[in-house]
Order: sequence, then C-alpha cells, then structure tokens
Amino acid sequence: MERSQWGTRAGFILAAVGSAVGLGNIWRFPYVAYENGGGAFFIPYLFALLTAGIPILILEFTIGHKYRGSAPLSFFRMGGKKMEWLGWWAVFVSFVISTYYAVIIAWSMRYTIFSFNQAWGTDTEAFLFNDFLQLTVTPGQTGGIVWGVFIPLVLVWVITLGILFAGVKKGIELANRIFIPTLVVIFLIVVIRALTLDGAMIGLDAFFKPNFDAIMDPKVWVAAYGHIFFSLSVAFAIMITYSSYLPKKSDITNNAFITGFANSAFELLAGIGVFAALGFMANQQGVAVADVAAAGVGLAFVVFPQIINEFPGFNGLFGALFFLSLTLAGLTSLISITETYVAGFSEKFGLSRNKAIAFGGGLAALISILFATQGGLFFLDAADYFINQFGVAAIGLVEVVMVVWIFRKADMLRDHANAISDIHLGGWWKICLGVVTPIVLGYMMFGLLKTNLLKEFDNETGNYEGYTDTFIMFGGAGVAIAAIVLGILFSIGKWHKDHA
Ligand code: PHE
Ligand code: NA
Repeated sequence: MERSQWGTRAGFILAAVGSAVGLGNIWRFPYVAYENGGGAFFIPYLFALLTAGIPILILEFTIGHKYRGSAPLSFFRMGGKKMEWLGWWAVFVSFVISTYYAVIIAWSMRYTIFSFNQAWGTDTEAFLFNDFLQLTVTPGQTGGIVWGVFIPLVLVWVITLGILFAGVKKGIELANRIFIPTLVVIFLIVVIRALTLDGAMIGLDAFFKPNFDAIMDPKVWVAAYGHIFFSLSVAFAIMITYSSYLPKKSDITNNAFITGFANSAFELLAGIGVFAALGFMANQQGVAVADVAAAGVGLAFVVFPQIINEFPGFNGLFGALFFLSLTLAGLTSLISITETYVAGFSEKFGLSRNKAIAFGGGLAALISILFATQGGLFFLDAADYFINQFGVAAIGLVEVVMVVWIFRKADMLRDHANAISDIHLGGWWKICLGVVTPIVLGYMMFGLLKTNLLKEFDNETGNYEGYTDTFIMFGGAGVAIAAIVLGILFSIGKWHKDHA
C-alpha cells in the first residue's frame, strides 16, 4: 500500500505546530517561567531551545523523513531491534499521556460552556474539586463515573478518532488547517483584551521582572530543558511519525526552525495574556500578583474562573474564548500523540489504519474513563508526575546517546538533511546533540533521582504527595516502568512482512 502523505508543506508545518502548541503553552509555560526567574528565565529557555529543542526536532524530522516509518519502524530500520525498543518506549509513554491529556481537554470543553453563565459561582476551587470533579474518595479508589467529565470525554475521543479515521491528508492536515488559524485568532483576541484591563501592566511587570540569581540555580536550567521537551513534543515519537509522511522532496531544517519558533512565540503570547489577566485580578483584590498566581490545573480551572467572575463586561464570552483556546490547542496535540501508536501498531502487526485506530484509540479511550471517575484526579496526578519525570527526558537522553555515540548515525543523518534543506547544518548540530544535551540531561536525571524527587516526597510516608506505596506502585512509578518493559517486549516480535 502507498504510504500516506501530507498534501502541502504548510499542511505539515501546521500539523507539527498543532502538536507542539498545546495545554503546555497556555497553562504550563507562564508559571514555569514565573517560578524560575521571570524575565531571567529566557536565558536558560533560549539555551535549551537552541541546544536541545530545535536540534532534536531536526534529528526527529530527519529520521522520519529518511526511514519513512512510525518511530519504532524508523528506529528498527536505522539500527535493528537494538534501536526499535526505544521507539516503542516513546510510543507507550505517548499512549499513557494520551489517556489523561484527553481528560483535561474534556474539562476545558465543559468549562467553555460553564463560562457563559459562570456556573462555577464564587468559590471556584470548591466548585472544581467538589461539584465538578466530585473528588470524594481516597487516592487509589475510583468511585463512580463523573458524568460531567465523561460526556465531554466521549466527545473528545469521537472528534479525535474521527479525524484520524479520515486519514493523514483529509483528516489530520485538514483539521489542523482549520483549528490552528482559528486558535491563533481566538487567542489573540483573549490576549489583547487581557492587555487592556486595569492592572495588566502590574502583571506583566511581575512576569518579566528578571531575577538573575535564579539562573545560577541548576534547578532552573533543568526546568527549562524539561519544559522545552514537553512543549516541542520531542522524544514522544510524534515528530518522527509526522515527518514520515513528508514527500521525498521536503525541507527539513527550515521546517524545524519554523515549528520551534512558532511554538515559542505562542507560549510567549500566552505568558503575556495570562499575566495581564492575573495583574488585573491582583489589582482588583488589592493584593500582589504572587498571591493570585497558581500552578497548573489551579491556574486554568480555579484562578481563571475568578478572573472571569470579575471581568468588566462580556465576561461569558471572554471565558468561553479562553477555554475554547485550551480545547483547540489540546485537540491538535491529542491527535498527534494518538497517531504515534496508530502508526506503530498498524505497521508492526500489518493492521489496516482503521483497525489500528479502532483498537489503539479505542483502548486509550476506554482507559481514559478511569480519569473520569471520582478518584480520577489522583490517578491523573500520579501518572502525569511519574511519566513526565522518568519518561520524556530519559527517552531524549537515550535517543541522543544511541544515535550519536553508540550507533554513530549523526553524520549520515546530517548529510541526509543537508541534501534537501535550505539551511545547512554545521558542526554545532552534532555538538549540541552529542555533548551539550547529554551532559545537561544526564545531570538532570541524576539530580531528579536525588534531590528534586525527594523534595516532593512526603516526610511521613516518604512517597510523592504522601500517596500509599500500593498506589505509587500501580498508579505512578509502575506506569512509567511498564512503558519501558512493554517497549522491550514489543520489539521482540517480528515486523509484518510488508515492513520487514
Ligand atoms: N507539546 C504539547 C504541549 O505543549 C504537549 C504534548 C506533548 C502533547 C506530547 C502531546 C504530546 O502541550
Ligand atoms: Na508546546
């Protein structure tokens, strides 16, 4: 069978940008930057972008383009089974992420509707945890299904799998052609409106005020690298899969720079918009920005509803546009992450694309129901923490070390990229991949296992967030370990004859 292909160069770039721009840009970047030196964070951020993010993006685009397969198949073609397992590891990490990422999109969808009459009332925190998520059980228990989450979750999967069923060009490319420009327009409206609020400048001041002491702190550099990996969707098997659908004659390096810079531009915009809104709220309540800034889930689903409550006029619309932005940004990322295992399963077992979507996507959708139960938030938190800490950076580290040092493919891949690209890669590329990135990531893994991880562990139980041993084993660490074990197991079997 003929391999699917993108219809146009812009289609591929929009899909890659659609994968990169996600929930991470809107709710993760603003507080990561704020907590790690504010304006000074841009130094480690840019360093991480230029020495790791974009070089690895170029690497993955080149691998996908050259070997024309899902991540496991591409690695298999590059280095046999000794490399294939790495592709599966990334695929299983992606699989896990897709199961709970879908749930956060479902919340965003629901909150888009809640916005119109501020259904969350004045105590937005109690609303989120008690009324909406119905978090009444202890960690590790599921409780009943929460229908308010379950119903939008079904919709999220119907949309995502529907788009995948329609194919690479008529589904993924077309969806991104519509969703991404819409997202940019909507989000610009949100940001511009936020900037015209009273107190916006106080927020921007807090966001950009550089704390130069912070950049002497290794933790800040680790945060920058961690964020860049997550934000660019590298080391997730995604960018290899997407670039495997490129036509033979395609630019590689230029596309990678465009994708990388577009993603960064979007998160900078998000930082500005979010902090302008936080400045407004701080001003309104007569408190410091630090008192209203919150991290992660709290920022989008607790603080933003408060901002919307106090918004001067058209607040329903402002709220709906904000949550619609989250929904659209999330959907295009979920599509990309689901495509990694659809492609992998279909090639390994010789399944048709549609069967692979029904089986892989169906399984992910079923598992995601776990996060739509009354104890779902605890499962989500544990899975997210362990899979991100031990998944992505570790895969990135193993990837660059194997490609550059063990299998020594860097020069050959560089020649491949240079033969078709506008921008020619020089020696810097290999130095970034082979030296700078492994040193930083190696240090990062070491530090994680030592201090960083222990810090978040509870004093009494010695576990993350004070969760029980059993819950950590099955719900958190176990999931991260299972991804690597399954990765190795999957690489044992033979490839279907069409792909051997
Ligand atoms: N890049 C996405 C974001 O910033 C996160 C993501 C990573 C999504 C991997 C899918 C897969 O939100
Ligand atoms: Na991103």
